[in-house]
Order: sequence, then C-alpha cells, then structure tokens
Amino acid sequence: MKRSTVNILASYIDALHPIIYINHFDFKVIDDAIAHVGENVKCVEFNNALGLVDFKTKSPMQECDLEQFLKLTMDDGFEQDTFLVLKDIHGELNNPKIIALLKRIAENNLYNESYNTTIFILSEITVIPRELENYITVFDIPLPITSEILSIINDFVSDMDIFVEQETINDITLSFKGLNEFQIRQILNLAYQDGGCIDQDDKLLILKEKEQFIKKSGMLEIVNFTENIDHIGGLENLKEWLARKAKVFANLDKAIKFGVDVPKGIMIIGMPGCGKSLTAKATASLFEIPLVRLDVGRLLGKYVGESEENMRKALKLSEAISPCVLWIDEIEKAFAGVGGDGGGNDVTTRLFGQFLTWMQEKENTVFIVATANDISRMPPEFLRKGRFDELFFVDLPNGEERRKILDIHLKKRKKWNKGIDSIALIKETVGFNGADLEAVVKDTIEMAFIDGKEMITTEDLLKSVKDTKSISSTLKEKIKEIKSTIDKIDIKPASKEDIH
Ligand SMILES: Nc1ncnc2c1ncn2[C@@H]1O[C@H](COP(=O)(O)OP(=O)(O)O)[C@@H](O)[C@H]1O
Ligand SMILES: [Mg+2]
Repeated sequence: MKRSTVNILASYIDALHPIIYINHFDFKVIDDAIAHVGENVKCVEFNNALGLVDFKTKSPMQECDLEQFLKLTMDDGFEQDTFLVLKDIHGELNNPKIIALLKRIAENNLYNESYNTTIFILSEITVIPRELENYITVFDIPLPITSEILSIINDFVSDMDIFVEQETINDITLSFKGLNEFQIRQILNLAYQDGGCIDQDDKLLILKEKEQFIKKSGMLEIVNFTENIDHIGGLENLKEWLARKAKVFANLDKAIKFGVDVPKGIMIIGMPGCGKSLTAKATASLFEIPLVRLDVGRLLGKYVGESEENMRKALKLSEAISPCVLWIDEIEKAFAGVGGDGGGNDVTTRLFGQFLTWMQEKENTVFIVATANDISRMPPEFLRKGRFDELFFVDLPNGEERRKILDIHLKKRKKWNKGIDSIALIKETVGFNGADLEAVVKDTIEMAFIDGKEMITTEDLLKSVKDTKSISSTLKEKIKEIKSTIDKIDIKPASKEDIH
C-alpha cells in the first residue's frame, strides 16, 4: 500500500473526520490501507451480502441488515477506538433511519471525548445525503506519483525479466501519470504482450488506452481537430506566451526537476469570433497533447449530489489522461447563474466552487484553457491570481491582424496572390472579426467560381466586404459591454500593437 494513501487516511482520522467515503473499485487495496492505519483499533465490517463480517478473515459473523448492524456496534466506540467499515451501502443512504444512526455516531465522535468511532463507507457509487454532508469526507485514493510509477514499472520489468532502455522508462513514466496502479499494470501487460518488449512505440498504446477510459465515462469529450498555431492570425502576445509554455510541456520531466512550475492554464476573454476557440485547439496542437472538452451542462444529474459526483469524476478523469488540455468553452454560460439565489442555481454554484478548489489545488499536468465572451456576470474570485497563469483579452483584430487573417484564409483555399492590396482591405474592414473576414473570403471565392474567374482581385474582396455585416454593426451594444468589463480587470492584451 502506498505511503501517501495511508498518511492521508491517518490525518483524516486524527482530524476527527467522522465519516470517510472512499470511492474505489478495489476493496482489497482499501482494506489494506485501513488495516495499516488501524493497527490498534477494533475494525468491524458490514458487508451488504453477508452482514457482520470479521474484518481480518472476512468470515461471516452474524447475519443482519445495516440498521441492526449499526445498532449493534454503535456503542463500541465508548470502550475502544473503533472503525466501522461499511461496504456497498450506497443504496441505503436515502433511508432516514440509517441517516439518523450514522449522524448519531458522527456527532458522538466529534463531541464526546470518551467516544471514538470512525466510519468508512466503501463504494464505487458516491451518494451523499444532505443531512450528512458536514460529516462526510470523500477520499479519492491519490494516484501514484512519479517515483511510485517508476517503481511499478521497475517491478514489472524485473518480474518479466526484460530489458528496457532507461530513457523509455522515463518517458512512459510520464505518460502513465494519472492512471492508478491497476491500470498501469494492465497497460504494461498489454504493451509487453504486444511485442514481447516495452519500447518508445508503446507510448502510443498508452495514449490509446487513456482515450478508452474517457470514451467509457461519457463525461468528457475528446476533440479532434486539424488547426494549429499558424492558423491564428495575430494574437502575437498570446501565441508567444503559449510557445513558452509549450517548451515546458515538451520537456516536462526536466522542467520539473529544474524547478519550473507546471503550467496551470489560461483564460481567454473577449470578442466573439476572434479566435478564442481556435486558440484552444492550437494550444493542444502546440503542446502535442490531447484536447478534451468539459461540458458542464452534461454533468448535471437529476439526483441530489449527482452533478457534484459527475464533476469530481470528470476532473479525475482529466487527470487520468493528463498531460492534456482541458477546454471549457464559453465558461460564462457553463456556470451561468452562479451566486444567484435558490433553485437550480444552487447546483451550478456548488459545481463552480468545486471547480475553483480543484484548480487552486491542482498539481497535475492538466492545462486548462477557458474561454469567455462576456464575464460581467462571472464571480470575481474566478479571475483572482493563482488560478490561471494568465488572463488574455482578445480584442477585435487590428489592421495588421486583419491582413494576416485574410491571408490565412485565402492561402488555406489556395487563392492568395501578390496582387491583393492589403492596405485597401485593412481600411475597409475596421470592426470586422476573424469570423467576418473568413466569411468575406468564402463569399468572394464562391462568387469568383460562379463568375468563372481564376484569380481573386482586391475589388472582388472589397465587394464582399461591402455586402458583409460585421460584428461591430450587429453586436454593437454587446461589444461595448465586453469592453467596459474588461477595463475593470487586470488582463493582458492578446495582440501586439498595430504597426499600421
Ligand atoms: N485570429 C484569427 N485568425 C484566423 N482565423 C480566425 C481568427 N479569429 C477567428 N477566425 C475564424 O473564425 C472562426 C471562428 O472563430 P472562433 O475561434 O470560434 O471564435 P471565438 O473567439 O468566438 O471562439 C474560426 O474558426 C476561424 O476560421
Ligand atoms: Mg468560441
């Protein structure tokens, strides 16, 4: 059993956490940890199938239901320090009698000095009744840290009696980050059977296995894309910043050893259609890691506590596939109504808090890219320093940026030519966003095709410009609003100053 797990469990017990909820599939592993922590403690187990069970030998002692079990054992804590280990009882956690009994034990544990009983609930399904919320601590078994992964691999290598290059071992160690011991062994086995050895090629296999985990969960979405950083016109400050972080990600192992902080993430705020979503994709491409999208709406469940549990699972899952980019698009919509009072907003507010805490404490290689158009209704604590590494404001593209964006979209369609007068185009496209400019290019090319032309001319483009209603005319008020909220926060411009 890993030291870290045992230590954390022990600290929870010392700090009088009366009910510890452990969400894990491998009860044997948890039993070991509990046995370790409870060396001098009386351990009593309730098993949903067998009733009261001897914790050490697992032999059935007395057939009973959970209510009878709790009544039978609830006073043990007056005589001796006691652990009550309850397995697979999630189905009972809507029963008022059971809730009342658990609450009584928890309160005694907290307030009666001569009583000491800690309850462990072990289940793969987390159900937390409102009445017990203040007493329950959910304990996620910490995933193996780098040195632990290394020793799992080394054990495997020596068990199998094979030779693996040190460099390969270092590399796959990082790829395994976020998986649990069981999953790591499984994949090592798979890799070994696949070719009788373990080599650099197996990194691909590990990534594929990680993708499997995500697909099964249905909580995160892997986004496939073709865009890269060269598809973004302008936003030079933002791109430079990302390029720096990419260097860290490319040499994460060395960077961490050197003392570099693992990048946490970035928040991109600004005008619609100016390349925010595009940047999320380009980031994953630049970092050469998968892009997974967190859709908060998808996490909402109908049972009490279900949404929070889904959020916890989604975040854990993102760790399991890390290094990855975790993308939350239009975060202001995802957490709409946060801080409002009553009803449906309650759940969103809790999810939001949960997400903030996770971000604040996170020490993994999940790089967050959050995008937002309008942050006027976002709670200010979200933007506080320490959560994101940096906040960037994406404004409507300046002249030089408009030129670049037009070029990118013309070149993408192989219709760029030297004769195009960019200065004239820049002048006529003030207030256009990237999406408008892309539309101009598309329309022009379509018209040229219909007219049977080979080449695109400046006049053709200018004609489409005239026919296009830019965002500045259609969303005038919205743009003013976005600008005025941005002025109030400490945020970096994504663009360099215009050279025109
Ligand atoms: N800076 C840009 N460079 C190149 N294309 C852009 C840029 N901004 C927007 N576009 C085009 O407009 C489309 C929509 O942009 P998107 O990134 O989705 O906007 P948003 O900022 O609203 O997320 C992109 O797919 C791209 O084709
Ligand atoms: Mg977008």
